[in-house]
This record gives sequence, structure tokens and C-alpha cells, in this order.
Amino acid sequence: MNNFNFYSPTYFVFGKGREHESGKLVKQFKGSKVLIHYGSGSVVKSGLLDRVKTSLKDAGVYFTELGGVVPNPRSGLVYQGIEVCKKEHIDFILAVGGGSAIDSAKAIAVGALYDGDFWDFYTGKRIERALPVATILTLTAAGSEGSTGSVITHEKGMLKRSTNSDLIRPVFSILNPELTCTLPAYQTAAGAADMIAHVMERYFTNTKEVEITDRVGEAVIKTIIKETPKALKNPNDYEARANLMWAGMLAHNDICGVGREQDWATHMMEHELSGLYDVTHGAGLAVMFPAWMKYVMHHDVARFAQFAVRVWDCEMDFQHPENTALQGIERYEQFMRSIGMPVRFAELGAKAEDIPVLLKTMGLGNRTLGNFVKLTEDDIRKIYELAV
Ligand code: NZQ
Ligand code: ZN
Repeated sequence: MNNFNFYSPTYFVFGKGREHESGKLVKQFKGSKVLIHYGSGSVVKSGLLDRVKTSLKDAGVYFTELGGVVPNPRSGLVYQGIEVCKKEHIDFILAVGGGSAIDSAKAIAVGALYDGDFWDFYTGKRIERALPVATILTLTAAGSEGSTGSVITHEKGMLKRSTNSDLIRPVFSILNPELTCTLPAYQTAAGAADMIAHVMERYFTNTKEVEITDRVGEAVIKTIIKETPKALKNPNDYEARANLMWAGMLAHNDICGVGREQDWATHMMEHELSGLYDVTHGAGLAVMFPAWMKYVMHHDVARFAQFAVRVWDCEMDFQHPENTALQGIERYEQFMRSIGMPVRFAELGAKAEDIPVLLKTMGLGNRTLGNFVKLTEDDIRKIYELAV
């Protein structure tokens, strides 16, 4: 096991009706002038936004609001949000929604305390200051409610890029599983694909014998495999929604990654797909993961066989472990299909002839991507081709 620091200070407030505590919590975390940031209307329609505003009013907290975040959130609204924060001396940002609203809020939080272009932080500059961000989650997927990450698409060139810092990890997150009951089936399923991917990016590692981290990750994935079909069958199944909501947080607050090297190549390849085609991130991952697994599995067949046996309940073929490994990949694909996810380019609306464009926007040059196998641009081209 490698040395590690694990610092995950988000205060989670979990359960039915907990959004009524937003005002009290904002005060507890020293917010006095709040920007409420949300998406394209789901939180207005569900009445959640009104409940949050009432709670802030009751607590005597000043707020202003900015809606309109779209999936694969764009830089344009971030610039607007930064302007609002600077003009109104905002000291706290409350994101209400899914990963996109949260990531946009994180970008605003960073830009609000910076004189330059917030995009600098998505192209390599280290974050040194940010306003506190809190979240009220409505979609179990990205894990941004407990993560250090934010992913934004710049309208200039539609470049989808990420940044990471403990300074943008939410100070508190309200997780009420009831809020996810209104999700369209596709978003529930894409959320499952994303959560599973967050564990897989950490599972396929060259660091040996981090059994505890393996086992935590396997439990998280197995829970998602069990609970997602239940939530799809009965969208109001509170227990399924609750298990999924906590699994999504555990999948990405790094508890599934400590003590070892992580990969993340598949996420980077997917970000190019969602940048170009504006597809749902989880759906893009469901397409890219089988291709990546097939391409790299010979690097460590035993690890893929372990994944197949422990996560997908495959039987171990001791004579031919590569058969077990392949069976695990097949089971992954079958599961994704069974919940309505695409597993090939065409099902996603992606085209083989765009592969050179994807590679060009990625701009890898002579560098490599990922850690499990360090992929060159040529490897990535072959992986995209496998996904066709
Ligand atoms: O915009 P509204 O109207 O709210 O509708 C959203 C949106 O259309 C809708 N929705 C959300 N909650 C709902 C709901 N509809 C009905 N009922 C509800 N309760 O769902 C749609 C998708 O929302 P979005 O926030 O885009 O989804 P998600 O949470 O999957 O976030 C995706 C973004 O997160 C990034 C992805 O790349 C993508 O841009 N990621 C962020 C990460 C992080 N910050 O750590 C890590 C991830 O790997 C990921 O890259
Ligand atoms: Zn993801």
C-alpha cells in the first residue's frame, strides 16, 4: 500500500426532508450572502428551489440566484456567476441540482476570488482560494457532492476540462434520496454507469495488495448493480434511491482509491466524447469502458479475472484466466444494456470518422494518458476504434 493522505471534510446531511435545514446549515458554515446556483428547471418544477429559499429566509440569510446550468456545464454561465459574486459580495455558493450545477458552482467559487480568467484553473493553474461551496444533490452520479473535482466545457472550442482541489470540496452536502425519485430512467442509469466508473478508475491499478480498498470498491459496485434495477423498476423506491445516493458519494470521495495509483484514462477519453457530442457523461463511459478493458486487460489478466469473479460473480477458469477476464467485460456490457445504456459508438451517436477530431482536441502529443497502462495517442485511437 502506498502512503496517502485522506482528508474528506464534507459534512453530510442525509435523509428525507433534510433540505429544510439549508438555512440553518448555511449559517453554521458562516455563509451570510449566498448565491443559489441551479440547472435548467427541474428544481423549480419539483418545488425544491422554493423550499430552499424559504429555509434561507427563515434563517435570515440573504440570497440571490442564478439558474440555467446545462448538462456538461459551460463557461459562459460561470463568467456570469463570477460577475454576480463580485458585484454582490457573495460569500457562499449553494448548488442545488446534479453534478453540472455543482461543478459550475465550484468554478464560480474559484473565479469569484481571482482577478484573472477562471479557465486558468482548468488548464493547469493550482487553486489557492475559493468561496465555500455547499450542495443539495438531486442526481446520484458525478459524486461532486463529496469530491474535489469540477468539470467545465469552454464554449470556445467546446473543450471539456477538469480541475481538482480540496478547496472546492463542498463544506456540506444535503443528500435527500427522495429528491432523486423524479429522475428520468436514462439519468438514473447513466448515473449508475458513472458511479461504477469512478470505482473502476481506481480499481485497475499497478499497486499491489491494497485489499481493503479493493473490497470497499467491490461493495460499492455490487450495491449499484443490485439497487439500480430496483430504482428503474420503481422510481419511488426510497431504499434503492438511498443506497444509490450514498454509493455515489463513496464511489468518488476517494475512499475507493486510497493507498494506490489510479488510472482515469477512460474518463479523459469520455470527456472528449461529451465535449464533441454533448452526450451524457455516464453513457459515454458505458461505451468507453469495455473498449478500454479489452485493450488493456492483458497487462494484468489476474486483476481483470478478480474483478469478474468478485464483482460480476463469474466462475474462475484457472486454466484460462483470460476467459474469466473477458467474461467480466461481457457481464459489464450486459448489465449496461439491461439498464438502457449504450455500449458502442453508434448507440451514443458518435462516429468513427470523428476519431481524428477527438484525438486532436485531446492534444496529447508525445505525452501519455492513464497509469494502469500508459496510453499513447496511437493506443487511444485503437481504443476509440474498439468502441465503434
Ligand atoms: O438542469 P436540470 O433541469 O436540473 O435537469 C437535469 C439535467 O437535465 C436533470 N436532473 C437532475 N436532477 C433531477 C433531474 N431531472 C429530474 N429530477 C431530478 N431530481 O438531469 C440532467 C443531467 O444533470 P447533470 O447535473 O448534468 O448530471 P450529472 O449529475 O450526471 O453531472 C454530469 C456532469 O458532472 C461531470 C460530468 O463530466 C458532467 O459534466 N462530472 C463531475 C465530476 C466531479 N465534479 O467530481 C466527476 C465525474 O466523473 C464527472 O466527470
Ligand atoms: Zn465520472
